[in-house]
Amino acid sequence: MTRPSVISTDLSRVCKSPKGLDPQRLPMHVAVIMDGNGRWAEARGLPRMMGHRAGVEALKTTLRLCSKWGIKALTVYAFSTENWSRPGDEVSFLMTLFERVLQRELESLQREKVKINFLGELKALPKRLQVLIKEATEITSSNNGIHFNVCTNYGGRREIVLAAQRLAERSMKGELDPSNIDENTFAAELFTASEVDPDLLIRTSGEKRISNFLLWQLAYSEI
Ligand code: FPP
Repeated sequence: MTRPSVISTDLSRVCKSPKGLDPQRLPMHVAVIMDGNGRWAEARGLPRMMGHRAGVEALKTTLRLCSKWGIKALTVYAFSTENWSRPGDEVSFLMTLFERVLQRELESLQREKVKINFLGELKALPKRLQVLIKEATEITSSNNGIHFNVCTNYGGRREIVLAAQRLAERSMKGELDPSNIDENTFAAELFTASEVDPDLLIRTSGEKRISNFLLWQLAYSEI
């Protein structure tokens, strides 16, 4: 995802397939840590929130390009379990931004056959946002286009702990023999159960850290 130089991106300009793009070598699943928004805004003398707004525009462009080029899944880190410790007004701004974006974009997601899913512990999110998430997930559930996974209140270690708890519960109920637990059984308990692992991770700020994102799934990804 390139840093947008203007808030609104001219899609007609960027949507042409790049020359020499070899469809055989395209990633199937791209994961994105969408950071650097605040720094992008500060570098331009703008409030951090403007950076998040610009991030949404960059995300829309990325989703469209991935879809157009035949990439099957895009998974983005929208809000981590650690992000709750940000200043209260920034957290509220982000929650409201998620709500507005979902309301505003649902129609075009549906038109473009995008299947949206939210990965994370969603019960901790504001009720209004939970309702919109449920609605967007249900409406787009039978779409056959790109899978767009939005990690919200997501943490990679937490995801692994939850998977371990579920496997332990199933073992205690006698549904599962612990000695039969293998990588596939484990992966099937993760939020990403129905996806292939990402083959490419992009961190938009340019930093080279995984920061608790998709710890299991990124085992073999290019960064
Ligand atoms: C992290 O770094 C970025 C976020 C916490 C927010 C990213 C979310 C969006 C762009 C909105 C996406 C909306 C939907 C509905 C998917 P930062 O930008 O605060 O980074 P910095 O402090 O590293 O500059």
